[in-house]
Amino acid sequence: MLLPCHVLLGLLLLSLYTPASYAAATDTVSPGHSLAGSDRLVSNNSKFALGFFKPGNESSSYTNHNSYLGIWFNKVSKLTPLWTANGENPVVDPTSPELAISGDGNLAILDHATKSIIWSTRANITTNDTIAVLLNNGNLVLRSSSNSSNIFWQSFDYPTDTLFAGAKIGWDKVTGLNRRLVSRKSSVDQAPGIFSLELGLNGEGHLLWNSTVAYWSSGDWNGRYFGLAPEMIGDVMPNFTFVHNDQEAYFTYTLYDDTAIVHAGLDVFGIGFVGMWLEGNQEWFKNYRQPVVHCDVYAVCGPFTICDDNKDLFCDCMKGFSVRSPKDWELDDQTGGCIRNTPLSCGSSKDRTSLTDKFYPMQSIRLPNNAENVQAATSGDECSQVCLSNCSCTAYSYGKGGCSVWHDELYNVKQLSDSSSDGNGGVLYIRLAARELQSLEMKKSGKITGVAIGASTGGALLLIILLLIVWRRKGKWFTLTLEKPEVGVGIIAFRYIDLQRATKNFSEKLGGGSFGSVFKGYLSDSTIAVKRLDGARQGEKQFRAEVNSIGIIQHINLVKLVGFCCEGDNRLLAYEYMPNSSLDVCLFKANDIVLDWTTRYQIAIGVARGLAYLHTSCRDCIIHCDIKPENILLDASYVPKIADFGMAKILGREFSRAMTTMRGTIGYLAPEWISGTVVTSKVDVYSYGMVLFEIISGRRNSSHENFRDGDYSFFFPMQAARKLLDGDIGSLVDASLEGGVNLVEVERACKIACWCIQDNEFDRPTMGEVVQSLEGLLELDMPPLPRLLNAITGGSHPVTPQYFDSL
Ligand SMILES: *[C@@H]1O[C@H](CO)[C@@H](O)[C@H](O)[C@H]1NC(C)=O
Ligand SMILES: *[C@@H]1O[C@H](CO)[C@@H](O)[C@H](O)[C@H]1NC(C)=O
Ligand SMILES: *[C@@H]1O[C@H](CO)[C@@H](O)[C@H](O)[C@H]1NC(C)=O
Ligand SMILES: *[C@@H]1O[C@H](CO)[C@@H](O)[C@H](O)[C@H]1NC(C)=O
Ligand SMILES: *[C@@H]1O[C@H](CO)[C@@H](O)[C@H](O)[C@H]1NC(C)=O
Ligand SMILES: *[C@@H]1O[C@H](CO)[C@@H](O)[C@H](O)[C@H]1NC(C)=O
Ligand SMILES: *[C@@H]1O[C@H](CO)[C@@H](O)[C@H](O)[C@H]1NC(C)=O
Ligand SMILES: *[C@@H]1O[C@H](CO)[C@@H](O)[C@H](O)[C@H]1NC(C)=O
Repeated sequence: MLLPCHVLLGLLLLSLYTPASYAAATDTVSPGHSLAGSDRLVSNNSKFALGFFKPGNESSSYTNHNSYLGIWFNKVSKLTPLWTANGENPVVDPTSPELAISGDGNLAILDHATKSIIWSTRANITTNDTIAVLLNNGNLVLRSSSNSSNIFWQSFDYPTDTLFAGAKIGWDKVTGLNRRLVSRKSSVDQAPGIFSLELGLNGEGHLLWNSTVAYWSSGDWNGRYFGLAPEMIGDVMPNFTFVHNDQEAYFTYTLYDDTAIVHAGLDVFGIGFVGMWLEGNQEWFKNYRQPVVHCDVYAVCGPFTICDDNKDLFCDCMKGFSVRSPKDWELDDQTGGCIRNTPLSCGSSKDRTSLTDKFYPMQSIRLPNNAENVQAATSGDECSQVCLSNCSCTAYSYGKGGCSVWHDELYNVKQLSDSSSDGNGGVLYIRLAARELQSLEMKKSGKITGVAIGASTGGALLLIILLLIVWRRKGKWFTLTLEKPEVGVGIIAFRYIDLQRATKNFSEKLGGGSFGSVFKGYLSDSTIAVKRLDGARQGEKQFRAEVNSIGIIQHINLVKLVGFCCEGDNRLLAYEYMPNSSLDVCLFKANDIVLDWTTRYQIAIGVARGLAYLHTSCRDCIIHCDIKPENILLDASYVPKIADFGMAKILGREFSRAMTTMRGTIGYLAPEWISGTVVTSKVDVYSYGMVLFEIISGRRNSSHENFRDGDYSFFFPMQAARKLLDGDIGSLVDASLEGGVNLVEVERACKIACWCIQDNEFDRPTMGEVVQSLEGLLELDMPPLPRLLNAITGGSHPVTPQYFDSL
């Protein structure tokens, strides 16, 4: 992309002029006007600036003598390079570089001292009147001065680590140009790093390590966001677009407000982010980051390290290893990893057994990848012998999966916290020279105290530097947490410790189920319910289903997702807190409150409205698939909110039916779940009908009172259907209401419920029609008896309760 270009200054330098001074900032470099020293180009809207800069901090212990040509936000006080021309070829002191139009019409950085070109746009120029302009969107273009649409080169085609608003990531299929983001090596060194963000030809975005290993994928574009990155549509996120046609495949975004200062890119740790500048705090605030935690970035700490997200300095060397390049570590580039303090003896001294290599155990470890499985070894001892017998073997682990050994460098070793390690973690035995292990043991027993701090003053210095960084980071984080609520983010990506703190370490349990547990939590300005999903795989599925569906929509009758956390193995969802618990508690649990009829009727309408919205009004049709009283929550005023979208199925606009595996809860399942697997939104209508009956009767349809002596004719929905035909509905209503009911509404509700549970999905109304009927805007005919139910409850053949339940 940007290749070294130390070409001797020759014919090309015909048009070098002495630098013109810029009294007023301009946005153009032209043959008569070059840029040098602290001169800047400023875009006409004053948003972007271009010039030479020295990244990093002059007062840091590692001062930087390199300067780069780059673009940054003109008004952001903290210099944030957005694009760098010469990342690989910095201008080294004491050179004073100059940016000019060179003799061949290209834009070039020239070094007077060595008479060389440090960097050039190297475009094929077909006119003799080129100029370079910094546009209002931050794009630096080299074009003809007489014809502004004749563009020879533009910085948007050669991005570094930032995606500008309006620029593209992806492919120009005609020219083969692939625009990708590449991380910078460190906070000071602007050379390309090892992480990149690319768009595959299939249209899926990937974060890659060394251009080969994908450690994060975006999922498919669904029209509004990438499937696995639902956070993209938060309130403060820009407007993302994905285009895929014969000519190109790219991803871009625009800002709703052009003056907003938004920074989207890939940081030095390999994390993709979208951030915004908080003018009041003079700080960047990252709205969005993927992966959420550092240790999920492939090999972020390099070889022979342990990554621990619970520490501010998340990378640490394994026992017996030291940082390869302390300077790089301090500058946020840990990818070099650690090196062995003492070389392995590796059988070279077979006769002196005391000096053979030993193993050091590390507990609660996410094991490195690329393990080699050794079937032959059937015990930990045998496994360690297998490892010792091969010089390239550096570690082994013996556990549920048998014996695993690793060769050469160990990557991606992660420290799991005790609580999160349940079964996933293992013990990793790393191979160390015997002498190394002896010194470790002595340290442990306190015989050599000095060693702990570091063998040299260099080590002590490093420690002080590291402490300073911890300090700095801690301070930073503190201000960030304080600022969070101010931003008013749509959906918050919480950190695990935030939710742990909010729920007082998950102490106030509100409920539980097969999916996990729900806890009460307190944010500074609101109360939340935090659902912690259990079971790594199932939890992940439910988590994704939930953020995918409820995360994108808002309706008064749908529970609001406040935020979520997906950190390591933890999957948590945070909702607005519902003080009146759920409908099943209010209806069936013998508590003091009896929901009056008006409230019940309003709940029925509210749930119907929520479902109607899900089925028709949001972009894609969402089938909830698990409507039951437990999933209908009630707020302080008993306004119902549909919750638990863990089983929801999203259908694209063009589809109305889905093939899916059976899901839902027995007692509320439509017959088509049992007869086949093609379902429509009418499965929710069926379940709604069942719930409506329960709202009327105040009892479970399947409660035992309804099955006196094995007589199923008292099954409430069937009873209701018959009484409806007989015109005797008063007796159906919950007795605890003591007659305080509106009989017109009861009859209406019974009719609707009965229509909803018809066997044939085409006979059932839509949820929209249900809403209209409940509101009295639509008159319904008398419903027929549902045939299947009738056959079972009225028929003479014996029926097993199990079969009955499955309806
Ligand atoms: C620069 O902006 C001013 C208004 O702020 C406008 O009048 C002028 O035409 C712009 N110049 C160019 C070259 O776009
Ligand atoms: C540079 O470091 C000094 C002291 O460590 C600090 O006060 C100053 O804010 C830093 N400057 C920048 C731009 O980070
Ligand atoms: C410039 O033109 C030459 C010859 O036409 C072509 O081979 C080369 O690919 C072109 N370079 C660019 C950057 O378009
Ligand atoms: C550019 O070329 C045209 C003819 O090709 C010539 O008339 C003009 O003087 C040239 N301009 C410069 C600045 O050299
Ligand atoms: C300006 O350049 C564009 C792109 O090269 C070209 O299509 C257009 O004809 C040119 N216009 C004029 C007036 O020369
Ligand atoms: C990255 O990949 C290149 C070739 O694909 C390989 O030579 C290099 O060793 C890799 N880097 C690391 C750190 O593994
Ligand atoms: C979002 O961007 C697309 C494409 O650039 C545009 O068509 C659409 O109008 C934008 N939406 C909003 C709300 O600005
Ligand atoms: C050691 O293990 C490596 C990787 O499995 C293998 O390629 C090599 O042949 C082994 N060496 C010996 C001496 O067995």
